Amino acid sequence: MLKLLFGAAALAVLGACAQQPAEPTREELVARGEYLVNNIGGCNDCHTPMTPQGPDMAKALQGSTLIFAPLVDIPWAPTAPSIAGLPANYTEEQFVAFMQTGLRPDGSRPLPPMPPFRLNEDDARAMAAYISTVPRAAE
Ligand code: HEC
Repeated sequence: MLKLLFGAAALAVLGACAQQPAEPTREELVARGEYLVNNIGGCNDCHTPMTPQGPDMAKALQGSTLIFAPLVDIPWAPTAPSIAGLPANYTEEQFVAFMQTGLRPDGSRPLPPMPPFRLNEDDARAMAAYISTVPRAAE
């Protein structure tokens, strides 16, 4: 009986550990964010100056004129602003909220073709952590 109880307690402890994975380190968060931004989010396709070979990663996320325009008359922003190092008027928390809601800190929405991202909090935090490390353009 005692053995059984002990076994159950050990299992419960193991179970609790499995349910609470350790918080990622800042380094792990940045690495995941880099993957999400560069391999999934497509942010460079609009926010990085384009060359015939693809986005100019020496100027990653420093803003760009779009290389395409809509075929129908819809609201449209022809340039994507710099978001390198996070947009100047956003805190990291505000950027996390933006990636989850699509709303800027002032409550407004960017025009198309900025996609209305609805990331979960973990992914939004990872993207924010990575983008905060991307160098802004030298003034
Ligand atoms: C298809 C093109 C496109 C893609 C892909 C794209 N963006 Fe945008 N983004 C834009 C444009 C254009 C604007 C400007 C909208 C405006 O001026 O209203 C914008 C605006 C923004 C803003 C608002 C900046 C501000 O000044 O308030 C943020 C933040 C942003 N984008 C982040 C991202 C991130 C992060 C990704 C990738 C996960 C991404 N964007 C992908 C085109 C794009």
